[in-house]
Amino acid sequence: MKLLNEILGTKYPIIQGGMANIATGEFAAACSNAGALGLIGAGGMRDADTLRENIRRCKALTDQPFGVNIMLMHPLADEFAKIVVEEGVQVVTTGAGNPGKYIQMWKEAGIKVIPVVAAAVLAKHLEPLGVDAIIAEGTESGGHVGEMTTMALVPQVVDAVNVPVIAAGGIADGRQLAAAFALGACGAQVGTCLLVSEECPIHENYKAALLRAKDSDTIVTGRIGGTPVRVLKNRMSREYVRQEKAGADKMELEKYTLGSLRRAVFEGDTATGSLMAGQVAGMLHEVRPVAAILEELWESGRQRMAALSELC
Ligand SMILES: Cc1cc2nc3c(=O)[nH]c(=O)nc-3n(C[C@H](O)[C@H](O)[C@H](O)COP(=O)(O)O)c2cc1C
Repeated sequence: MKLLNEILGTKYPIIQGGMANIATGEFAAACSNAGALGLIGAGGMRDADTLRENIRRCKALTDQPFGVNIMLMHPLADEFAKIVVEEGVQVVTTGAGNPGKYIQMWKEAGIKVIPVVAAAVLAKHLEPLGVDAIIAEGTESGGHVGEMTTMALVPQVVDAVNVPVIAAGGIADGRQLAAAFALGACGAQVGTCLLVSEECPIHENYKAALLRAKDSDTIVTGRIGGTPVRVLKNRMSREYVRQEKAGADKMELEKYTLGSLRRAVFEGDTATGSLMAGQVAGMLHEVRPVAAILEELWESGRQRMAALSELC
């Protein structure tokens, strides 16, 4: 099995997950310079030029491979899809849907296409379209989530397709990274553990909330309404879920989430902001440079794999 770093040309077999409103060109470049594949998150961008500028800034700051994450339900997805071609981006990951209609254009431009899936059935559907790899993302992860856990999902995606599979969701230390390889993945995508990096541009209140979080401090809003998102528990998310269970309609619930990610990221509003985070938030204890987080993740993963092989 080829490791992800051999496929992507990175130092580590690790992808920094695209994070809407957070993963700027600067942040992606920092992650690429530190040995992962940095991804610019196009998800929260309000216009196409913003993506173009972020790509150009990233290019100016790193000579390492980087990519762009496109959320397919974004109204500008068609434009974003063209910009990555025009700007010579090397890797595209996609979230929330089926990128089928863009794949031919991206492959002709030599772009590596790596969709995120939350169930094996979508992976099976995408493989014949020519994707280069699949990210299997479990419900432990921060942000938009599916139902299946990483532990159950990854081996079933590995069995369903012949392309390399990358595990995402619930990976923040070497034990979990080793587990990802044990499940058949060729590497990992992480998001939550990088939120508490020095380079991550979220408000310091958001970072402080992550450092305070315990293992059970996340909650999924929108499980009933159809757009499940994992966030830290706070006044907004608790109230959202309470109203949701009480049968509130979608429009009624939207008033809680409208602008809430920006409130968390830029204003540090920890009471009514949407503090997207995965279940590993309880494992974060300090703010460190991205390079230190990634090096420890990889080195402790290697040590764990070596220790496990001695058991046999
Ligand atoms: C704050 C936050 C925002 C995210 N936004 C996106 C996004 O815009 N697009 C996407 O494909 N995934 C998004 N994700 C998921 C990550 O790319 C990654 O798959 C996930 O964080 C991995 O699980 P972990 O949080 O347990 O590390 C987001 C995750 C977080 C924590």
